[in-house]
Amino acid sequence: MSPKTIIAPSVLSADFSRLGEEVEAVCEAGADWIHLDVMDGHFVPNITFGPPVIKAIRDRTDKIFDCHLMIEPAERYLGAFAVVGCNIITVHAEATTHLDRSLQAIRDLGCKAGVSLNPSTPETVIEYVLDRLDLILLMSVNPGFGGQDFIPSVFDKVARVRAMIGARPILIEIDGGLTPETAPLVARAGAAVLVAGSAVFKGGREAYAGNISALRTAADEPRLAALGSR
Ligand code: DX5
Ligand code: ZN
Repeated sequence: MSPKTIIAPSVLSADFSRLGEEVEAVCEAGADWIHLDVMDGHFVPNITFGPPVIKAIRDRTDKIFDCHLMIEPAERYLGAFAVVGCNIITVHAEATTHLDRSLQAIRDLGCKAGVSLNPSTPETVIEYVLDRLDLILLMSVNPGFGGQDFIPSVFDKVARVRAMIGARPILIEIDGGLTPETAPLVARAGAAVLVAGSAVFKGGREAYAGNISALRTAADEPRLAALGSR
């Protein structure tokens, strides 16, 4: 388990008119991963971008591209996201008919496999695919938009998923409404990766490094303390 909390800025909150420069800036500011929110206007009530845009920004950094597919169906597009350089591909359990097969397909493409659960989805839906997973992305907002408030009921789910994982090498990622106030709570419960859009991109480029540092500092100590007590 990495001693440092992984911070994955969501580019949904970046300046889309300068996305390549924004990726470079947030990486220079300390981002560990780049979180790519792909939305289709069907599974979620918003439309963002697809493989061509990801291809256009891939060479701006060698950091991990963490691709969050909020699309339905997802299966037929997995190869298109892998070939443009996504390192992690996460599908929603609610958007896939055959989750086990989709996760195998992601790994067969050479990518890390993730599943995402909406706030109302119980963690039991993934109990039979744990050995297909490298990442579990727990939504702490209803997917579709940045800048929403954290949904507190997700705190308990983080702890339950942590217990369900046991010693498996699976990362828990939390996505939505994360700030230096909510980050420690999910970190203590077992989250290793924090996605943040508005909390990172607020205040302009000169604020990115301080915003990232504030999130990591708020999360590291409680997460390491919780790890030590396990
Ligand atoms: C929402 C996305 C999140 C969102 C996070 O559907 O999956 O990644 O962009 O934005 P904030 O951190 O502003 O809630
Ligand atoms: Zn996301």
